[in-house]
Amino acid sequence: MTQADDWSDYWRKEGAEGEVFLDGAGGKHPELEAHWRSVFAELAHATTIVDIACGGGSIFTALPDDHTHVLHGVDVSDEALKVCAARHPTATLHLGSAEVLPFEKATFDMAVSQFGIEYAPDKVKAFTAAAACVRPGGRIDCLCHHQKGHIDQKIAPAYTGTQAVLNTNFVSNAIALVHTKKDHHESAHVLARNLFIDSERKVAAAMREARSGIHVHLYGGFKEMFSSFEKYNPDEIVRWLGEMHEEIVRADARYAQMAQAALSETQIDAIKACLVEGGCETVSAEPFFTSTSELPLAWRIQATR
Ligand SMILES: C[S@@+](CC[C@H](N)C(=O)[O-])C[C@H]1O[C@@H](n2cnc3c(N)ncnc32)[C@H](O)[C@@H]1O
Repeated sequence: MTQADDWSDYWRKEGAEGEVFLDGAGGKHPELEAHWRSVFAELAHATTIVDIACGGGSIFTALPDDHTHVLHGVDVSDEALKVCAARHPTATLHLGSAEVLPFEKATFDMAVSQFGIEYAPDKVKAFTAAAACVRPGGRIDCLCHHQKGHIDQKIAPAYTGTQAVLNTNFVSNAIALVHTKKDHHESAHVLARNLFIDSERKVAAAMREARSGIHVHLYGGFKEMFSSFEKYNPDEIVRWLGEMHEEIVRADARYAQMAQAALSETQIDAIKACLVEGGCETVSAEPFFTSTSELPLAWRIQATR
C-alpha cells in the first residue's frame, strides 16, 4: 500500500469523524479550534488561504460562518478530499502531495497546515513549496507533530504493541492453535502450541511497557476465547483473529507514519533554514502547549514572507 492508500483507508473508515480537533478522550479539542480562530481573527485581511494536507478540512471549520475567504485544500488522499468537499463545498480541492503544490508562485495570503505537511516524505521540499505559494507579506502558520510531544509519547507504546504482534506472528500462530485443536491433531497441536507460547511471551512483554492498545485487546480477547474453547465456534474465533490482524496492520502503518512525521529539533532547524532561503523574513518554531498535557502538543511553525 502507498502512503496515499493508507490515508484513504483511514478516511474511508473514519469519514466525518476523522479529524484532529479531538482530545485524548475522543471529544472535540476546544483549544486547537480556539487557536485557529485566533489566527484567523488576527489575519482578518488574509482572503486567500491554502490548507496543506487538509484532510477533512478541520482548520476551515474555525473560520467564521459568514467568511468570504477563497479556500484551497491539498491532500494526497482522494477520500480525505471527499470528506472535505462535503464539509466545505466552496473550497477548491486538489489531489496531490505537499511536496509539489499545484499553484503559481505567490498565490496565497496564507498557507496553513495542522498535523499534515510534515507527513510529506521530504519535509524540506514541502516547506519550500509552501513558502513559494505565499505572496510577499503573506504568512505560513502550521502545527506539526513534535517528536517529543504529547501525541508521539502517547502513540509510542501502542506502536510497540502492534510491532510485537506483527513481528511474532501472533495471529497466524493463534490461528494454527485453533485449527489443530478443532481437528484434534495432537502432534501438530503441540508444535502450534510451542510456536504460540513464544509469540505470546513476547507480546506479554510488550504489554508491560504498553498496557493499553489494540494488542492488549487481541491478547486478552484470544486468551478468553481459547480458554473457553467449547463456548465458541472455532471458525468464529479464526474470523475474529483475521479481523483483528487487519486492524492491527492498519494501526501499525498509521503509527509508523506518525513516528516518521514527528519533527526533531534538527529537522526544525532545516525547515527554518529552507523558509529563510525561500524568501521568508520572520521565521519561528516554538513548542505549542495545551492545558491537557505538560508535553507540547505540536511545533508551531510560523513565517512571514
Ligand atoms: C493527521 S491527518 C490531518 C488532516 C487535517 N489537517 C486535520 O487537521 O484534520 C494528515 C493528513 O495528511 C495527508 N497527507 C499525508 N501525506 C501527505 C502528503 N505527502 N501530501 C499531502 N497530504 C498528505 C493525509 O491524507 C491526511 O489527510
